[in-house]
Amino acid sequence: MTDSSSHSPHMPQQALTALQRLTRFAQDLGAPTDRTLVAKRILTELCEVTACQNGSLYLLNPERQRYSCLATFGTADSLASAANLLSTHPLVTRLTRQATILALLDLRSLVPVDEDPSEKAQEALHLPLAIPLLNKGRLLAFTLLGPAPHPALGERALLTALAQIAANALDSILIYDDLHQSHMLMRRTDRLRSLEIIAGGFAHEIRNPLTSIKTFIQLAPERREDTEFIRDFSRIVLEDVYRIERLIQEILDYARYMEPTLTEEDLNEVISSCLYFIETKAASKRIKIEKELAPDLPRVMLDRQQMQQVLLNLLLNAIDAMGTQNGQLTVRTQRLTKPGNQMWAQIEIKDTGVGISLKHLGHIFDPFFTTKHASGEHAGIGLGLTIAHQIVQEHGGHIQVDSTEGVGTTFFVNLPAITIE
Ligand SMILES: Nc1ncnc2c1ncn2[C@@H]1O[C@H](COP(=O)(O)OP(=O)(O)O)[C@@H](O)[C@H]1O
Ligand SMILES: [Mg+2]
Repeated sequence: MTDSSSHSPHMPQQALTALQRLTRFAQDLGAPTDRTLVAKRILTELCEVTACQNGSLYLLNPERQRYSCLATFGTADSLASAANLLSTHPLVTRLTRQATILALLDLRSLVPVDEDPSEKAQEALHLPLAIPLLNKGRLLAFTLLGPAPHPALGERALLTALAQIAANALDSILIYDDLHQSHMLMRRTDRLRSLEIIAGGFAHEIRNPLTSIKTFIQLAPERREDTEFIRDFSRIVLEDVYRIERLIQEILDYARYMEPTLTEEDLNEVISSCLYFIETKAASKRIKIEKELAPDLPRVMLDRQQMQQVLLNLLLNAIDAMGTQNGQLTVRTQRLTKPGNQMWAQIEIKDTGVGISLKHLGHIFDPFFTTKHASGEHAGIGLGLTIAHQIVQEHGGHIQVDSTEGVGTTFFVNLPAITIE
């Protein structure tokens, strides 16, 4: 359709209003948050332009090959919300093929609903105006509106433009869904993969202590008079048993936790409770603890027990990394604002310890990576950071590390804050 007025230097008032409307609409849909809000906004706009009192919007569900009613406007609530249309429905194929707004007359020629023969679905289709929301030939959604006069030609052009903007916004939502799903899948695969590594590592780790226990048992009968042998070997065997016990405990910790049970929590409070646990240990090593907790820290959804496990792991690592002289442990929280105005809470755990060499930095999150090889009850297992990483990831957050050998290490735990609509 050509519009001669667009060539005129003075834009007619009507065109100007339409442009302003388009701009406002595009701005409103520019930062989509909640899909139902986006759908409502689209419906409001389309109903206003077509002077319709009722409307419903159907969004493609790619997994199930159908269009489900996402939002309604006016009194269409009761009649349309139950309806689901298969992607093979004649209305859908027609909207995809013709890619134009269908009005009452076109709609009448469609065969009746066969997938969902309920009265509601039938009635929904009797709304006289169907507007396809297409992107690259794909019908992402459509709206059914009514009762309305047949839209005038100029109005059709405006509706088409609005529909394209709406389709782009819905496309982003569908892409985001896709991304979210692959992300979830990846996390699951990740977890399976680390379980596999852990099972392998466990077998490997347990072999040495078992060999030493076996040797002792084999030798003990013939050397039972040798008290020195018995004493030394008993000590070694006991250490080996401790080691196996610790391994089992850590592996159980790893395997036991499943999906986190999330509750709304004040991170500052969770941190304070963890610091309470380590105070004595820090004091015995003359480590000073500095606490800087942000009073405006946003609240987060978290599994309190799991997050305590993460923080204790990090705090104990920090203490391990510092000698007994003038160590300083700083625990800080702050509010972060990421692009798109997303709010995050950040925990920083900083030590003045030995630091991590570049060679090791890429491996500290690997299962069984440890530099604490000293034997005895307090040797490292190398699962602490693996578990911490896993837990934080399952909370939708991430851990970062920054370290300089001989100076110290800082761990950052970033967690998404609760969004207030
Ligand atoms: N704060 C830190 N300072 C220096 N090195 C660290 C720190 N935190 C972790 N590391 C290194 O990462 C390794 C793995 O840590 P972790 O998974 O907790 O296992 P573990 O504490 O059992 O050794 C540690 O052995 C250590 O080498
Ligand atoms: Mg550790």
